[in-house]
Amino acid sequence: MDLKPYFQSYNGSFSLLHGDSLKMLGSLPDRSVDMVFADPPYFLSNGGTTCKSGKMVSVDKGAWDKSSGIETDHDFHLRWLGECQRVLKADGTIWVSGTQHNVYSVGFAMQQLGFKMLNDIIWHKRNPPPNLSCRYFTHATETILWAARDKASRHRFNYPDMKTANGGKQMQNVWSILPPARAEKALGKHPTQKPLALLERIVLASTLPGDLILDPFNGSGTTGIAALNLGRRYLGMELDAQYLDLTVARVHQSLHETPAAEGQLVAAYA
Ligand SMILES: C[S@@+](CC[C@H](N)C(=O)[O-])C[C@H]1O[C@@H](n2cnc3c(N)ncnc32)[C@H](O)[C@@H]1O
Repeated sequence: MDLKPYFQSYNGSFSLLHGDSLKMLGSLPDRSVDMVFADPPYFLSNGGTTCKSGKMVSVDKGAWDKSSGIETDHDFHLRWLGECQRVLKADGTIWVSGTQHNVYSVGFAMQQLGFKMLNDIIWHKRNPPPNLSCRYFTHATETILWAARDKASRHRFNYPDMKTANGGKQMQNVWSILPPARAEKALGKHPTQKPLALLERIVLASTLPGDLILDPFNGSGTTGIAALNLGRRYLGMELDAQYLDLTVARVHQSLHETPAAEGQLVAAYA
């Protein structure tokens, strides 16, 4: 399969691919990626309700988020996770974020594939939307599973950096980080955009400058922006071209605003 980038930086360190990651991942070489971050479909846009700007609305994040039944959804997780494991370097790690709707299937698939589980990070959202039905606890967390490629992996953990970031104390697996700030959504919105601070912490914890980071569910490109800001290389895959265009706009904004990214020449081509 010809993987012509939708967008690539002039020096080749930042690339975006348009299409189905299940098909495109197969074209990547074995053991070529240092770290994967993935925020896969939650499979929760199935007629339920949620609270948006104080109003009850139906959950519809897009066609990509509709469930095809738990067996088919699980098979999907097994397939993309298997490909990510194949392309990870021997000591590479993968981070997968999820909610109660998909994280058990994702975690089980990772166990079936023989990943070495390292941590489950609890991302605590300090200011979550209220639960309007008053029939459940307010959903204030997401889980991020961190795992190494396999049992033999000697994974990278930048322990001193995390300790420094936590005021000199060992960092715990509960991370209190606010949802994306308004400024992070100024160029356009994605229904499940992750905060840049969350991705920057993940990148800092588990990679070195120059490492290659893959995100098979690019969305608005938060992983790529974190990689760019911290001098890592990036490959993002996304089904929806409007989100790739949003990512490109965020890249240009970051190049103007972030000292580490400044000076990198970026050229786009269709
Ligand atoms: C949960 S969102 C990721 C959000 C992202 N972390 C961010 O900060 O913006 C998942 C994204 O994956 C895309 N997607 C879903 N299935 C895909 C597939 N098979 N191949 C490529 N992209 C896919 C969706 O269009 C959606 O933008």
